[in-house]
Amino acid sequence: MSQYVDVKTENGIQLITLNRPDKKNALLQEMYAVMADSLIAADDDPNIRVTVITGTADSFTSGNDLGDFLNNPAQNDETPVARFIRCLAEIKKPLIAAVNGLAVGVGTTMLMHCDLVYASTNAKFSLPFVNLALVPEASSSYLMPKMLGHQRASELLLLGEPFDAEKAQRYGVINEITSTEDLLPKAMEAAAKIALKAPEAVRLAKALLKNDQEAVLNQMNVESEVFRDRLHSAEAKEAFMAFMERRAPDFSKFN
Ligand code: COA
Repeated sequence: MSQYVDVKTENGIQLITLNRPDKKNALLQEMYAVMADSLIAADDDPNIRVTVITGTADSFTSGNDLGDFLNNPAQNDETPVARFIRCLAEIKKPLIAAVNGLAVGVGTTMLMHCDLVYASTNAKFSLPFVNLALVPEASSSYLMPKMLGHQRASELLLLGEPFDAEKAQRYGVINEITSTEDLLPKAMEAAAKIALKAPEAVRLAKALLKNDQEAVLNQMNVESEVFRDRLHSAEAKEAFMAFMERRAPDFSKFN
């Protein structure tokens, strides 16, 4: 349970809503745990055919809570965040994202695992891992070159600059752009169509479309190890402190 994530199911559709708007839906461990539990439960529940994930106010999510990165860095692969990203690669039922604003870090990398992605005109994506002295996660270093091509993936992951919905669509990260009012109805409409289809056929079709699951999970494990080391690095500590102190990081003393 988390006060920051709402989960409800209606007409075969599970809706997960991230709801910590005063922190731009920055993700705490308890929020990852609820998302992972809900996705796993959906796979086991014959009454759920598809999941939709969205945010609140002006944010899908601003990514991992940076205070958590600083104060509570992951020590092993059994953390809620590790469980959540593994789940993204392993779930058998479709996952649809409705990106209603900021989608930072895992807010964008999780989209590479979603089956359909809709974004509103005010959506703003970014992958600031290297800016934070971190490395890509959630198998994005495998999926993004595969989906977008090496140069586009490198542009987004090495420069870490925000990009808008139009560019996300051009690069193949999202399916469609809607107005803010039409976003959730659009995602729910697609979900409702899927919920009416033969469930086993849907699961099999998804499995066929994602026929490189082993490679995805392997790269996730490789990334996780490097990511965990980076969380304890002096470079990353400088980046997190800089965010807390609302200043630019100074990496000049590192080599
Ligand atoms: N972790 C912790 N707190 C966060 C956060 C995050 N990822 N993202 C936003 N917040 C908090 C801010 O600290 C601020 O808290 P405060 O009101 O107590 O000071 C509040 O949410 C609002 O954020 P603010 O920075 O004032 O909003 P903004 O619209 O100017 O900027 C962002 C929004 C997302 C661009 C900016 O907050 C940001 O860069 N956040 C960090 C994103 C990030 O690096 N995520 C990790 C990726 S791996």
